[in-house]
Amino acid sequence: TGGLITLDLGFKNTASTKSAITFLDGEKGILRYRGYPIEQLAEKSTFLEVAYLLIYGELPSKNEYETFVNKVTRHTLINENIRKIFEGFPANAHPMGVLAALVSSLSAFYPRPEESSMSFEEQTDLNIIRLLAKVPTLAAWSYKNSQGHPLNYPKNNLNYCENFLHMMFALPVEDYEVDPVIARALDVLLILHADHEQNCSTSTVRIVGSSHASLYAAISAGISALWGPLHGGANQKVIEMLEMIKADGGNVKKYVELAKDKNSNFRLMGFGHRVYKNFDPRARIIKQQADNVLNKLGIKDPLLDIAKELEHAALNDDYFKERKLYPNVDFYSGIIYRAMGIPVNMFTVMFTLGRLPGWIAQWKEMRENDEPIGRPRQLYIGATEREYVPMEKR
Ligand code: SDX
Repeated sequence: TGGLITLDLGFKNTASTKSAITFLDGEKGILRYRGYPIEQLAEKSTFLEVAYLLIYGELPSKNEYETFVNKVTRHTLINENIRKIFEGFPANAHPMGVLAALVSSLSAFYPRPEESSMSFEEQTDLNIIRLLAKVPTLAAWSYKNSQGHPLNYPKNNLNYCENFLHMMFALPVEDYEVDPVIARALDVLLILHADHEQNCSTSTVRIVGSSHASLYAAISAGISALWGPLHGGANQKVIEMLEMIKADGGNVKKYVELAKDKNSNFRLMGFGHRVYKNFDPRARIIKQQADNVLNKLGIKDPLLDIAKELEHAALNDDYFKERKLYPNVDFYSGIIYRAMGIPVNMFTVMFTLGRLPGWIAQWKEMRENDEPIGRPRQLYIGATEREYVPMEKR
């Protein structure tokens, strides 16, 4: 009868989820968490304060903040039985695979039996604290396990970032003093990665959570999605790409041309974005941070110079300009992680630490809105009906 059938085929950039958490405008390069511009939060806030803002919707009062930080601090210890799971991984296991498995294993330990009578809200608040508190410990342990070094226990007298760095780098054979410059740079990086509306891994967390699987299972799925080189895994690929260009005499022009060649599957990692068709506002701040941190630490990293040359060459090339390909959040972050002494196979784990409160906030919003189970539809393009053919006639 000529009726119009509209099919939401999940094509690029279609709006299908309602959320009040993060606003981004890809054309104008705007990113706000609960209405607060990312530039202000990066300059004035702390990661745990931003985590509270994303999860509970408002900046905390002094008392709310201190209570929240105190709770997180007092849940950083890991059940000793989880150490046994650690010991089963080979040293060369990728830390993202270890982390996804161990976060999922938390659902075997929590809620504790005595907490089963708690309300959903009470259990959720406790699970949120446990995830924020324990994931850094699990992350640092996955690094120590890969190094064959003894695991470090969290120290409650250190703040969130200092504690993570201490667990990562302290050795029983010598004292380890956390450099406050590095700790603050890490705090800013985690803030900048904290949420980014319905990206691949966040959509994964929401859809897994929509079946009412545990929060730990949903976060573990998000870690697996983030691992991919087209998503959070890009920060590791950027450094590997810069190392390759450096080993090839720093021939930036050659790699810009290669990235344009449709016959090569080489892409400039850390460039382009599904939504930002202007500069990624996070990349702008991280680029400034890279300069500041390296200057303060007195580090001269040739990869930073190559990265800047690459950015300049690409931004002045028609191919990239026509496709509106700009550096994204992953392009400069690895330079700072390197300066911190964080190994390249831990870069995506760092992205996980940052994105964790965003995933939690999005999961919580989906559950509080009592959203139905996720069930995307499709446009069927397969075979029409046909009869079964017996094996002897095929
Ligand atoms: C993150 O969604 C989010 O918000 C993600 C994230 C977050 O905070 O959660 O921001 C984090 O994942 C950042 C992106 C990290 N990934 C990379 O840096 C990998 C390299 N980038 C690309 O693979 C790509 O740009 C994507 C995956 C990021 C975006 O892909 P799109 O939007 O689907 O773009 P596309 O693949 O359709 O490319 C459009 C055109 C193509 O050329 P044409 O077919 O038009 O000729 O641009 C080209 C692509 O070939 N292109 C690139 C390129 N990215 C796109 N060419 C060279 N180098 C690149 N990096």
